[in-house]
Order: sequence, then C-alpha cells, then structure tokens
Amino acid sequence: MAWKKILSEEYTLPERVLIFDTTLRDGEQTPGVALTPEEKVEIAIQLDRLGVDIIEAGFPITSKGEWKAVSDICKLGLSAKVCALARCEKSDIDAAVDTGVDWVHVFLATSDIHLKYKLRMTREQALNKIAEAVEYAKSRGVVVHYSAEDATRTEHEFLMKALKVASDAGADSIDIPDTVGFAIPMTIHRIVSSAKVVTGKPIAVHCHDDMGLAVANSLAAVEAGAEIIHATVNGIGERAGNASLEEIVVALHTLYGVKTNINLQEIYKTSRLVAKLTGVWVPKNKAIVGENAFAHESGIHVHGILGSPETYEPIAPEVVGRRRKIVAGKHSGIHGIDFLLKESGLDMDRAKAKEVLEKVKALGDMGMRVSDTKLKTIAEEVVGKPGDSQMISLKELSVTSNTNGAMARISLKIGDEVITSESFGHNPVVASLSALLNAVSRKMNVKLTDFRIDATSYSPDLTCEAEVVLTINDSQEYVGEAVGHDPALVVVYAVIAGIEKAMLSSAGGKAT
Ligand code: KIV
Ligand code: ZN
Repeated sequence: MAWKKILSEEYTLPERVLIFDTTLRDGEQTPGVALTPEEKVEIAIQLDRLGVDIIEAGFPITSKGEWKAVSDICKLGLSAKVCALARCEKSDIDAAVDTGVDWVHVFLATSDIHLKYKLRMTREQALNKIAEAVEYAKSRGVVVHYSAEDATRTEHEFLMKALKVASDAGADSIDIPDTVGFAIPMTIHRIVSSAKVVTGKPIAVHCHDDMGLAVANSLAAVEAGAEIIHATVNGIGERAGNASLEEIVVALHTLYGVKTNINLQEIYKTSRLVAKLTGVWVPKNKAIVGENAFAHESGIHVHGILGSPETYEPIAPEVVGRRRKIVAGKHSGIHGIDFLLKESGLDMDRAKAKEVLEKVKALGDMGMRVSDTKLKTIAEEVVGKPGDSQMISLKELSVTSNTNGAMARISLKIGDEVITSESFGHNPVVASLSALLNAVSRKMNVKLTDFRIDATSYSPDLTCEAEVVLTINDSQEYVGEAVGHDPALVVVYAVIAGIEKAMLSSAGGKAT
C-alpha cells in the first residue's frame, strides 16, 4: 500500500477490482499456441484456485474442440464466472450461450480503420449491429460484456456513442480494449472517466503490450475508476501479449492498496502451469514470475539481503509462492559465497572461502556461470576432495538414442552402495532422468516437482542450464541446478545437487 495516501489525494480508487482472466482466449491466441480441451480444463481449475473472478474460457464458434473446452469448463462448477467470446453475430452468440457460460463477451470494432478495412461498415451500421447483438445476447439470459474493439484508436465522441448504445441495449459491463497497445496512461484515464459517466456501468479495460505499456495502462484505468481488468497469466496474448495478471495484481495489492480476489501464493504455480502447457517460456527477467525476479548475485545486494531482505526486495518471494535465490558469479562478494557454501554443507573458514570467491570471479571473468555443482567442485579444490564420504555421486551415464527414443544406463554411488538402473524415454534427457529417478527410488522417495532446462542458441560450445525442484521423502523441497554442455548430463547433475542438499540437511548440515 506504498502509495495509497498520495493516490487517494488524486483519485477515488475502487475498493476492489475484478480480474477478468483471458489466458484461455486471448492468451491462447498467442501465435503458435493451441491448447487441447483437457489442457484448458487444467488451466481453468488452476485459475479458479488462483481466485480470478471471470475466466474467459474461449471463442466457441472457432472450432468443435474450442466449444467442447468451454462447455467442459462450465461443467466444473468453479467459483469463477465462465465467459465466452462472440462477434456481434447470432450464430456466435448462440454457440457461446449453448456451452452453458454465465457471461458472453460480445465485441464489435468502432475505429474507422476497422470499420473501413475489416468490417466494411458505416458508423451507423456498426451502432445498429452493437444494439441488436447486445439485445439478442441479453434475451438469451446471460450476463453481457460489450467490447468496442480498437477503442483507443476510435474518435472519442463516436466511441462514447457506441458505448452508450451498448449500455442502453442492456450490456451489464463495458470494456475498452486497447487492441494494438496504442494508448498511454493519460488517454486511458480520459476514456475510462468519460465511459463511466456516459454509461453508468462497470468499466473494464483490455490492454495489449505492443509498446510495453499494458500494465501501466491497466493501472491508469483503475486510477480512473475501472472496476474490471482483463489480463493474462505471464502476459501472453496476440503479438506482444496482453497485460500481465501477476504484475497488475501485485502492483494493486502492494502499491495501490486495491484488493482483488487473487490468492497471491498461487501466482507462481499458475505461471509455471501456463508456461508448460502453452510452451511460451517466461523471460528470466520478467517481473514476479521470471527466474531472476528474486535472485541476487552482486556482493553489495547479497550483503544487504542477508542483513534484511527488504533492502533489495520490494516484496518477499514467499508472498507469490516463490523462493529467494543467491547466485554465485563474477559479481559475488564474500557474504554470498559464505552463505552458499554453508547452504551446501561446505562450511569452511574465511580464508578458504575467500579462495573460493577468487576462483568464482575468475570463472565469471571468462564469461562462465557458476552453478551449485561448479561451486562445489571449486570448494573441493580448495579444501580437498571428500572422496568416499561424498553422499551421492555419478559413476556412469551412457545414453544411446535414435529416432524412436533413447535408452539410458546410469550408475550412482549412494553412501557405500553402487546402484545401476536403465530406462527408456522419448529423448536422452527424459531417459536419463527416468534412469536416475529409478536408481534413487531404491534409497529414498524423490519427486520431481518442477523442472527447467535452458540452452543458449546453437554454437559449438552449446551451454545448458538446468534447475529442478525436488520433494524428498514427502517433506521439504530442495532446488538443484547445474550448468554444462550436455543436456542429459546437466539435468542429472541438477537432480544430484538437489538430492545432496537434502542428504546434507538431514545429516545436520555436515561439512564435506
Ligand atoms: O484486443 C482486443 O480488442 C480483443 C477483443 C476481442 C476484446 O481481444
Ligand atoms: Zn485482445
């Protein structure tokens, strides 16, 4: 609520705003994304857990699968209202209503550009079509949400006329789409303020991110009194995407003191699910959900964070279901290295830790990333290799693959015992991971709860980074990471790093 006092001197902020989630409609319109009905259902269930107020589940006229997905979501009995999109056509509205939705979102463009080149309609014809469609949708007994597509490039007087027509025809709420991300916060503020006066209905905004302003524009709409915000998880959507749900919600809660129904702790889980099922990966530096959003490397920052996290974190990572990460690298300082060594059970005196730090910096100067496993190797160089006392180590990994899949054979030393296992998978990474998990399952119950592998673009020196989250013996979660050149080996080392942390912590943080 950092700015609530200042904001309330300028604006009358709504107490609460509704989140209209369009991940399954506009988000799915991301080029290259197509979800099956089952995947849409899985995301809808998670969106409901997240606490969105309205789920725009799809555009039912598009295809049979799309109709089924929306209809299946309606049958789930979620707390969120379910909405479907329809053009101002009876057939679209019927297809939407027949799925069993609570809300129908009808849209017709109002800008001269769209009227002339796409709809080939006069302004008068557009007004008639809006009125007819809204009345028809209302007659079918659903809540009607009208969008004036390309509102922000529509001449202001005509836009107000169109919104009034929709409102008079019975629309329950009115949406102002910034279809091509053309608005700036001030113009959104102006349009929302006028729309509220002209229609007297709840106002929504639907902002696209073509200029990187979708979140700022959505927040400007709230400042002007908008009660409904359209957003997508991870900001996915047409072209540069839609306003990102997680950014808007966290800003509203933290900076504005405006409530939503969102359970912030579910944010990261939802982001990961959407990334996994859509295949649209989240950039590392993305606010709230990016891998680096709560990661710290530089010496000054890590020192501050270890003193008090609020020095360099605007919110605690746990608030949004995440964890803080301290990373070793070129910019590290002694406090960060000390912390990481202790975390890996590699407690050592300051002089030795400084030696480790110098080696970490030298690698950084060569442009290399220092993963958990690399840090451990460096530490072992400094204090001497633990030899047989090492709790878990890889003895052998061999993988053969062809176009049908891959076969992996792994040998691990766990304590004094060598365990070997073989497994088949669709590719070398999956086969290796599966052989590894089979082998360790003989000693402990390891579940892989999250998994990420990134590779830099092709070069003779391809570098991969893997990060895994493991639950061991159904208790605490452990993160393991590794960097290297072979994807299968990197993933195996990341899992081993996670298991080793768990073993060390259950052995009481024993130093190697
Ligand atoms: O961006 C847009 O204008 C839309 C409408 C269908 C609301 O997605
Ligand atoms: Zn859109």
